[in-house]
Amino acid sequence: MKIEGKEFRTIWFDEKKQTVKIIDQTKLPHNFIIKDLKTVKDIINAIKIMEVRGAPLIGGAAAYGIVLAIIEKNDPYFIKESSNDLIQSRPTAINLKWAVNRMMKKILGVNNNKVLETALYEAKEICDEDIKFCENIGLNGLKIIEEIYNKKKDTVNILTHCNAGWLATINWGTATSPIYHAHKKGIPVHVWVDETRPRNQGANLTSYELNEEEIPNTIIADNTGGILMQRGDVDMCIVGTDRTLSTGDVCNKIGTYLKALAAYDNGIPFYVALPSSTIDWDTKDFKDIPIEERNSEELSHLEGLDESGNVKKILIYPKKSKSMNLAFDVTPAKYVTRLITEKGVCEASAEGLKGLFK
Ligand code: MRU
Repeated sequence: MKIEGKEFRTIWFDEKKQTVKIIDQTKLPHNFIIKDLKTVKDIINAIKIMEVRGAPLIGGAAAYGIVLAIIEKNDPYFIKESSNDLIQSRPTAINLKWAVNRMMKKILGVNNNKVLETALYEAKEICDEDIKFCENIGLNGLKIIEEIYNKKKDTVNILTHCNAGWLATINWGTATSPIYHAHKKGIPVHVWVDETRPRNQGANLTSYELNEEEIPNTIIADNTGGILMQRGDVDMCIVGTDRTLSTGDVCNKIGTYLKALAAYDNGIPFYVALPSSTIDWDTKDFKDIPIEERNSEELSHLEGLDESGNVKKILIYPKKSKSMNLAFDVTPAKYVTRLITEKGVCEASAEGLKGLFK
């Protein structure tokens, strides 16, 4: 998608420099910085501090992490250790494990002088495939938006939480892909963007990327969705996910669950968009999903531009107060209207998912 009119993807390999290039998302929206990651440790750190974030993108980044590990030291022990460190860099999004395991399987038993070439090919495949999947999610979700528009004959108001936009994937996004497709088709859409405290991915990333694509959007405080739904100002919700169980239970950014409850109470459809790389086929009980707890400084401090246009970090809580920063929650399947995947739209249930992914 576009930034200042120029097409970008979120991650790519620089053949000449043998580095991985990323858009540093900790600097957005005020500064657009492309960063070179040179080692697997750089990738692990970028995932941890969220220079790259969003389930599909951290999967792609981890795949390139294996490539950088091979460039650094083509030694099976080092590569295996790096793969474990990559998987552990963030605990909740299943795409990390999925991508690393796929890379490790691909290079297993490959001749030493072919390992790098094989890994590089596979990392690119993982990223290219994600773009295709997200594009298909968009085409499948477009039909839902179109249906609402055909009935309403007026702007479709869509509420989203966090950033499941192109910045969270390689391109297109998951939740935003149907929106981008609708906009390209000339369907009038307006997006209510949950700010998404504490890291403000909604305000800093979703609104930013929608602006760049000229899609009308309004940032709201996370608690505003409920009253907008009661007033009839939301036609549908679409969110992404970091891990969806085979039961249809959806783990996503903290606050998603409460939005789903409000949607359910108001009879508003609540969709979850995801590529199959985000499905956890093994975990059966959502209480077994590891929920990341991040540094509470993300809550107690805010970053923004000061009056002279410099980025500044300030403390907003009482110095003595404790705070707790859980990064994800789970929306039980019964509150999810449908899952939108690259293969089609299905019920959020074991039967629904099995029907699409035999
Ligand atoms: O903590 P983040 O910013 O990595 O969380 C991202 C989300 O919760 C997204 O909704 C999810 O990864 C889906 S991305 C297409």
